Amino acid sequence: MEKTQKSEYEIQSEKIASRMARIKRKIVVMSGKGGVGKTTVSVNLAFALSEMGCKVGILDADIHGPNVAKMLGCTDSSLSSPDGTTLIPVEAKNGIKVMSLAFALPDPDDAIIWRGAMKMGVIRQFLGDTEWGDLDYLIIDTPPGTGDEQLTVVQSIDSLTGAIIVTTPQSVAILDSRRSVTFARKCNIPIIGVIENMSGLKCPNCGFEIPIFGKNGGKNMCLEMNVPFLGAVPMEVDLMESEDKGEEWVKEEAHASAKALMDIAIKLEKTDACTTAREMNLPKEGCSPSSCSSCHLDCPSKKNK
Ligand SMILES: Nc1ncnc2c1ncn2[C@@H]1O[C@H](COP(=O)(O)OP(=O)(O)O)[C@@H](O)[C@H]1O
Ligand SMILES: [Mg+2]
Repeated sequence: MEKTQKSEYEIQSEKIASRMARIKRKIVVMSGKGGVGKTTVSVNLAFALSEMGCKVGILDADIHGPNVAKMLGCTDSSLSSPDGTTLIPVEAKNGIKVMSLAFALPDPDDAIIWRGAMKMGVIRQFLGDTEWGDLDYLIIDTPPGTGDEQLTVVQSIDSLTGAIIVTTPQSVAILDSRRSVTFARKCNIPIIGVIENMSGLKCPNCGFEIPIFGKNGGKNMCLEMNVPFLGAVPMEVDLMESEDKGEEWVKEEAHASAKALMDIAIKLEKTDACTTAREMNLPKEGCSPSSCSSCHLDCPSKKNK
């Protein structure tokens, strides 16, 4: 018998697809470990890209720890939906459009105690019901790991541009980051690149560099796993303080971390790291079912095996 009625899930998927079609690049920011700087990277890339004239949105998909609003300095905003269905994103500095569960919490100390299905529901609602409009970038900040939130994002956005993986240099973080690489490959998500955050701390007095979490762990992992390296961001106390106040950091050019984050944004926008990541989805020259273990992703020839 012919199926006539669409399920609610299918209707929502169509809504998401039409919203996402108006956004040129959709980037998911992931990490294996918590506290390595995903939100820092998401927010600073948003600031940097908006400084370059791009129209940018951020979806905070970290349901249990939504920090995007705090780092963008818009915690006083709340969710609005004039027609009861469409959600209006909050506008942060530089016109950055933000959607986060933080805007729906009556008290910032409230804890979200939700299972997977609830999280999936709210992320899909934020993707499909938010009036994102025409954007150059939608940056999706996620919690650590490879669970419900990441899976919902990659399964809901067919046209996802790729993933940025954030790590710190020490082995414990790298071990978890390797899992994020594997996750992206298994889900057929192009890996735009890895950012090594908290890569050394320079003493502000004498300039001596203290490798608090070691150095080059992220860069070496990229070589080993054959994924692009986007850059290293050093630790700076001023960066953390600026984020606590919800201020824009990337304009502080005299600071090495601000410059590093701006350079990564330039790489994304100007040198087309995103397109390169997409191309990695295609089989490489000479790739055949027997040799395609060298491909970055499950390339078509691998699928035909
Ligand atoms: N390069 C850095 N230098 C100094 N502090 C940093 C740096 N990167 C992140 N932080 C701080 O570390 C904390 C954790 O960063 P955050 O971006 O929230 O990590 P995650 O989103 O991965 O949990 C925040 O207080 C942030 O301001
Ligand atoms: Mg975070």
